[in-house]
Amino acid sequence: MSGNDARHMTKPAAPLSTSPNYCALRGGGTFVAIEATQGERPIILYAGPDMPGASPADLATLATQQHAPGTAAVPLRGSMLNEMGTGIPGPNGLLAHRNGCDWAIDLRLVRLKQSGDHALTLHLEDTKNKIAATHELAIDQATGVLSASTRIENQSDAVLELEWCAALCLPIDPRLQRIFSFTGQWAGEFAIEEIAPFQGSIVRENSSGRTSHDSYPGLFAGTQATTELSGPAAAFHLAWSGNSRLRVDRHKDGRSVLQMGDLLFPGEIRLAQGEGYQSPDLVAVWSDTGFNDVSNRLHDFVPDRVLDQRSRSKPRPVHYNTWEAVYFGHDETALLDLAERAAAVGAERFVLDDGWFGGRRGDAAGLGDWWVSSDVYPAGLHVLVSRVRQLGMEFGLWFEPEMVSPDSDLFRAHPEWVLRAPHTGDVPFRGQHTLDLTREDVCDYLFDKISSLVSEYDIAYIKWDMNRDTPFPSNADGRAVMHQQTRAVYQLIQRLRDTHEQLEIESCSSGGARADYGVLRHTDRVWTSDNNDAHARHQIMRGASHFLPLRVLGNHVGPKTCHITGRKFAMHFRVASAIFGHMGMELDLRRESEADLATLKAGITLHKRHRELIHNGRFVRLPSSETKNSIGCVARDQSEALFLHAKLDTELHTLPARLRFAGLDPARDYRVRLVWPLVNPSLSRPSIIEAAKLLADGSAFSGAALMGYGIQPPLTFPDTGLIYHLEATD
Ligand code: GLA
Repeated sequence: MSGNDARHMTKPAAPLSTSPNYCALRGGGTFVAIEATQGERPIILYAGPDMPGASPADLATLATQQHAPGTAAVPLRGSMLNEMGTGIPGPNGLLAHRNGCDWAIDLRLVRLKQSGDHALTLHLEDTKNKIAATHELAIDQATGVLSASTRIENQSDAVLELEWCAALCLPIDPRLQRIFSFTGQWAGEFAIEEIAPFQGSIVRENSSGRTSHDSYPGLFAGTQATTELSGPAAAFHLAWSGNSRLRVDRHKDGRSVLQMGDLLFPGEIRLAQGEGYQSPDLVAVWSDTGFNDVSNRLHDFVPDRVLDQRSRSKPRPVHYNTWEAVYFGHDETALLDLAERAAAVGAERFVLDDGWFGGRRGDAAGLGDWWVSSDVYPAGLHVLVSRVRQLGMEFGLWFEPEMVSPDSDLFRAHPEWVLRAPHTGDVPFRGQHTLDLTREDVCDYLFDKISSLVSEYDIAYIKWDMNRDTPFPSNADGRAVMHQQTRAVYQLIQRLRDTHEQLEIESCSSGGARADYGVLRHTDRVWTSDNNDAHARHQIMRGASHFLPLRVLGNHVGPKTCHITGRKFAMHFRVASAIFGHMGMELDLRRESEADLATLKAGITLHKRHRELIHNGRFVRLPSSETKNSIGCVARDQSEALFLHAKLDTELHTLPARLRFAGLDPARDYRVRLVWPLVNPSLSRPSIIEAAKLLADGSAFSGAALMGYGIQPPLTFPDTGLIYHLEATD
């Protein structure tokens, strides 16, 4: 059997039983098969790794359903939203009504438009309930990543109340029984939680008003046998920085369906005639070769399809951020001193953090007053900015535009500009309120203030922070507006970027609480976590690497005693933990010894030498555990690689297990050298370091041996990061 090509679907609607119509999207190893017959409910038959030769019509036959006792007399096949009118006995992807009626929505295909193999738009209508829907699906040909979204439009003169609209109801392979969600907290982002196989549903909801620390809008899935480097795997992400709901439901007939969408507050979306609601994008990707390949596909998708291209070819500058060095104690002389020291160890961008503006001498005041504080900088920032430039660094500045402190000129002038529920006291949160960015006057105020500072000081970079939840996202009319607020934030950032074409922006939200693909469409980097603990950072970075490439993940060398955990770390380990990422520093350089500054400088030099490989190579997440973290970056042509093997704790055996590299060409030989730390870290001699001359010229081994047999790491103290450089000898 072969399917009719939907691109040629010109004939009138035909009964489903006699002439179903099919279409397929294919690219980058992904295959999506859809039954799309005019006048019928469209159905996703399959979405996953490509199966050469498979046609949608074949899959429809192979999936033939029949009556089972105790169920409806006809098979209920659902639709792309499994809306209520389909009768499907599983959680619906669309919940809407008009004053309690018109909820049994049943959308039928009106027309479709397909562009080549990679993009499809389906227009649907429910003529009785007067609702239209548009599904957009596209496969990125290079990576196989599927993007999908839905738009709902009200076609009646009575208001349509929308309660839930998933981007799509996406069937997933029921064998993907292991689901991994990404949870955490402030200073402990991207913790991976494995959800045991279940019947029924798993749901993750986030109504914090930001992407959140604890409920990242992304899931991984695999079988019991899937590892980083083998087996069926999938990843799903909602490209959205507001409230979210993720769910996976195992229907009673055995199907698994995934939904991701915008978690709406009561009455939040009320559509008048002709008005529409656009869901955020669902991003999905599959692989037959393990979790790491799924991440690789996402890592290629982000720079190609998510980030704008302004920072694409520019090496990611090494940061110096002032926060942990001075906090709110801004002092021009001290900052000039820090700038000199930062440049001396290799910083390329100096970011002046919180505390430079208005009455912001602590976290209780000043947000909203976006002018340089004359108390701290009587002559403005000119002296500091020009010195930073003379030292060869870019200048970056911290803002938290969406927020206002009650103790600020802005709040005194415009108390009505904040989001808050009438009759309900605000939940206190870092002494600040969320501004209502759905108001044009608020956005104009913020744009004018920020834009004029960017122009005045020729600011290259903004750290855009957002440090509170917004439990009551209510405008002056008492209506919840978080969806609109999220879009307004994107628009404001984009307006600044359109005006200042070289301006780069970092998304920060109390560390990594806003690090999704929605915000990354308008920003260049995320601040992964406030936790600069060189030990804890491994879990955070490893977790984040599931969705985000190293080039966007801010990763800083912190002070000897971590301010958040109180733990102490040698400089060689602080450096090793920061090299794989968008490297920076966030420490008081006046308090570091000369020896440690020399180590830091050497580490930054090493990062710069290899950053092209780190930021544009192919990322490898090797199997790891609580006692070790092993990752690497392999050149696209497999000519070289850089691997980090961080020992985090003592291990079960007297000697560390052999490190098996991955991603190399088995047929080539590679010269292996240990490029970090700079001195022999082995606890006893001789070791592999002498045997293979790892700290000297190194030794060459076959790629096959390095991957299949592996190298014995030297025995070291915990909290040692070994960095190996591998170079093909041909
Ligand atoms: C947040 C950020 C920090 C720092 C402070 C400033 O917590 O995550 O990096 O910028 O705000 O107040």
